[in-house]
Amino acid sequence: MPGLVIVGAQWGDEGKGKVTDLLAEGATTIVRFQGGNNAGHTIVRDGEEFKFHLIPSGILYPDKICAIGNGVVMDPRILLGEIDGLKRRGVDVGNLRISANAHLIMPYHVLLDTAGEVKLGKLSIGTTRRGIGPCYADKALRLGIRVQDLLDEKILRKKIMAALEPKQQALRELSVQRRKLRKEAGEGVREGADQTVAEAPDPRLDLHAMTEEFAGYGHRLEPHIADTAHLCWEALDGGQTVLFEGAQATLLDLDHGTYPFVTSSNPIAGAACVGAGVGPTDIDEVWGVAKAYATRVGAGPFPTELEDEAGRHMLERGREFGTTTGRERRCGWMDLVALRYAVRLNRMSALTITKLDVLSGIGSLKVAVRYRSKEGAVFDEFPYHQSILHSAEPEYEELPGFDADITGCRSEAELPAAARDYLGFIAEFAGVPIRLVGVGPSRDQVIWIGGEPSLRAA
Ligand code: IMP
Repeated sequence: MPGLVIVGAQWGDEGKGKVTDLLAEGATTIVRFQGGNNAGHTIVRDGEEFKFHLIPSGILYPDKICAIGNGVVMDPRILLGEIDGLKRRGVDVGNLRISANAHLIMPYHVLLDTAGEVKLGKLSIGTTRRGIGPCYADKALRLGIRVQDLLDEKILRKKIMAALEPKQQALRELSVQRRKLRKEAGEGVREGADQTVAEAPDPRLDLHAMTEEFAGYGHRLEPHIADTAHLCWEALDGGQTVLFEGAQATLLDLDHGTYPFVTSSNPIAGAACVGAGVGPTDIDEVWGVAKAYATRVGAGPFPTELEDEAGRHMLERGREFGTTTGRERRCGWMDLVALRYAVRLNRMSALTITKLDVLSGIGSLKVAVRYRSKEGAVFDEFPYHQSILHSAEPEYEELPGFDADITGCRSEAELPAAARDYLGFIAEFAGVPIRLVGVGPSRDQVIWIGGEPSLRAA
């Protein structure tokens, strides 16, 4: 199966990094196709923990090509920090490739992300404030700066100049508005204080300093810059396996997720083609990754959210704190209506269920199988109208739980019957086989169902 896409089947943080790391063993090329450093992948190798935000999860294999595809938005400061961190720990990053067409997150994108969220107040999306939305907006506006622009200082300066002017204006306006709002709310605004901020040029937005700084990043990144689509074609044409590593997840998809509480890219499998530069017929398999329960960070509808003991159990036992922002994740029962929607949107060929061990000792297990609206209407499918989703009550199927510690199980047969039945129910409802189950954070704490896939890495 030369082209395999790995996608998140819920609201992110499902453990895609670990699945990618495992499957990468049989691949030659791993490419990220969307998102940016809003993502956070944790991999535990030989007891050592690695956290990545931008670098593809395959980087721990010295012989694999790890590519940041054209669909990614990339903050070079973060990337260089990750490269330096890996080098310090003795990891060879010589095989890291960065698409010349990937867009750069600039300092003004980060400022705009935060300013936009502050302005929205109670209606804020809860973004990671890493500049993701404003960067993709600039890409669509054709005001983006691309990785290749770093290699020509003259072009870089011109492009930053064109992009910067409207940002300065927008940030000034947002600052003035904020000042007004604070005044109206009766908050003490020191006369002249915010005005100075609003009117004085922000040193972080100085054209010359920014150009120089980013040209410097270009020098450091130059050995890694490449035509990453070409690398994928070569591998695919040679019958080798290419992993397309998704970030975020299906329900955070800009088109198909719970808009506007979504990210600004398309994390679904179809986007792997656009974000890596391959054709739909290059994709042979799509593996979706879902937790055995559900979590979400940021605002937005989450029908199965729990605010009780079971939710606390998931939070604490599952250590549900964001890799990127450290925020507590919202926790809830597995939502099979949403999962089946994700299976279809991605046309998944296999499912991976992670963190099954977290559910041990929680009592009986619930899975949402339909929603009921305030008016009593029943929804067997994910409702297309956001208002319904906001107020929908999930209807649960209750399944027997298990108390045994399953972190040492390495085969399906070793799992308690209740755990096997739980997995069986999920697979049956979602209409897709479960191929891999996670029973602990380490690389070896997994159960392959139906054997490990045979990937061609030669
Ligand atoms: P943004 O991607 O930073 O613009 O954030 C938009 C929404 O996506 C917010 O609700 C974030 O919490 C969420 N989000 C972005 N990246 C991730 C991720 O990697 N895991 C989980 N949620 C994410």
